[in-house]
Amino acid sequence: MAKQVKTIGVLTSGGDAPGMNAAIRAVTRKAIKNGLKVKGIKKGYMGLLNEEIVDFEWRSVADIIQRGGTILGTARCLEFVEEEGQRRGAEICRKHGIDGIIVIGGDGSYRGAQALSHQGINTIGIPGTIDLDIACTEYTIGFDTAVNTAMSAIDKVRDTSSSHERCNVIEVMGRHAGYIALWCSIANGADDILIPEKYDYDEQKIIDNIIVNRKRGKTHHIIINAEGIGHSGSMARRIEAATGIETRATILGSIQRGGSPSCKDRVYASTMGCFAADLMAEGKTNRVVCYKDGDYTDLDIDEALAMQKSISEYQYEIAKSIL
Ligand code: ADP
Ligand code: F6P
Repeated sequence: MAKQVKTIGVLTSGGDAPGMNAAIRAVTRKAIKNGLKVKGIKKGYMGLLNEEIVDFEWRSVADIIQRGGTILGTARCLEFVEEEGQRRGAEICRKHGIDGIIVIGGDGSYRGAQALSHQGINTIGIPGTIDLDIACTEYTIGFDTAVNTAMSAIDKVRDTSSSHERCNVIEVMGRHAGYIALWCSIANGADDILIPEKYDYDEQKIIDNIIVNRKRGKTHHIIINAEGIGHSGSMARRIEAATGIETRATILGSIQRGGSPSCKDRVYASTMGCFAADLMAEGKTNRVVCYKDGDYTDLDIDEALAMQKSISEYQYEIAKSIL
C-alpha cells in the first residue's frame, strides 16, 4: 500500500544543469498545492548528512526560473555511496519529519535515491544533467541549454577559423557521453567528431579527412572532441604538423554548464517537477520521471538504472557524412 507522505525534501546532486532551478520551483509549488510541506536540502547528499535543511514556502522559489545553476547548490558526496551514510541520511530525514525526497540529478544521484528508498524514505528522481546520458529518458534537464551554448561558441570559432583558414579542435563537455559532441557536430557542420562511445584511436583518418576537405576548397576545419577523449592541445599540434594547416585548440569547459536555461529546459523542467510532486502526493517511491515517445511518464528506479543508452548509429553516420 502507498505510504502517505506529508513533508518532502528536494535536493540537487551531481553536476549542476541549467533548468534545475525551474525544477526546484515546480516541485515546491506543486507539492504545496498538493497539500505537502516542503524543505530545501542544500548541497545534495552532503548537505543532507550535514543537516543543511531549510523550510520552503511558495516565495522561497520566487525569481529563480530564469537563473542557471541551482539555488540549493550541489555536491559530490562519497560518504553517501556507503550503506552507513545512506542509513544516517534516512535517520536525518526522519529527524526533520521528511518522509519523501525528490532528487534532481544524473544516474549517480539516482543510485543515492534508490538507496534512500530501501531505507524507507519515499524517493522520486528527476533527470538533471547536461550530458543527456540517462538511458530511461529522451530528455534531461540542461542538455538543450548546454548544447545551444556550445553551438553558438563553435559558430564564433568557425568565423575566425574561416578568416584565417585554420583548423580548430574544439573540446566540449562529456566525460563519458558524446551527446553534446554529436549534436554540435551535426549543428555546426564539423569535419570530424571524437566521442567516448566510438573512439578508435585512428588520428590518421582525421588528418586525411582534413587534407581531402582542404583540397575540396574548405577554408576552415572544425574537429569536435568530447571531454572524455581529451588531449585537444596535443592533438591540435599533431594535426598542424601533419597537415601544415595552422591548428588551435579551444576547450569550452564550464561555460556549457552555466547560463539562463532555454525555453525548452524551463518548460520540461517545470513539467517534470510537477510530475514528481504529483507522484509524491500519490505515495509513490523508487520512481524516476522520464520523457519517452513524446510524453512524460515514470519508471521504477531499479529498471531505469538497468537500462543502457547508446549513441544513435544513424545520427553518428549523419555527423560523418554531410560535412
Ligand atoms: P550524477 O548524478 O550527475 O550522475 P555523480 O555520479 O557524481 O553525478 O553522483 C552524484 C552523487 O550521487 C554522488 O556524489 C554520491 O553522493 C551519489 N551517488 C553516486 N553513486 C552512488 C551509489 N552507487 N550509491 C549511493 N549514492 C551514490
Ligand atoms: O555535468 C556533467 C559533466 O559536465 C560531464 O560532462 C563532465 O564529465 C563532468 O560533469 C565534469 O564535472 P566537473 O566539472 O564538476 O568535474
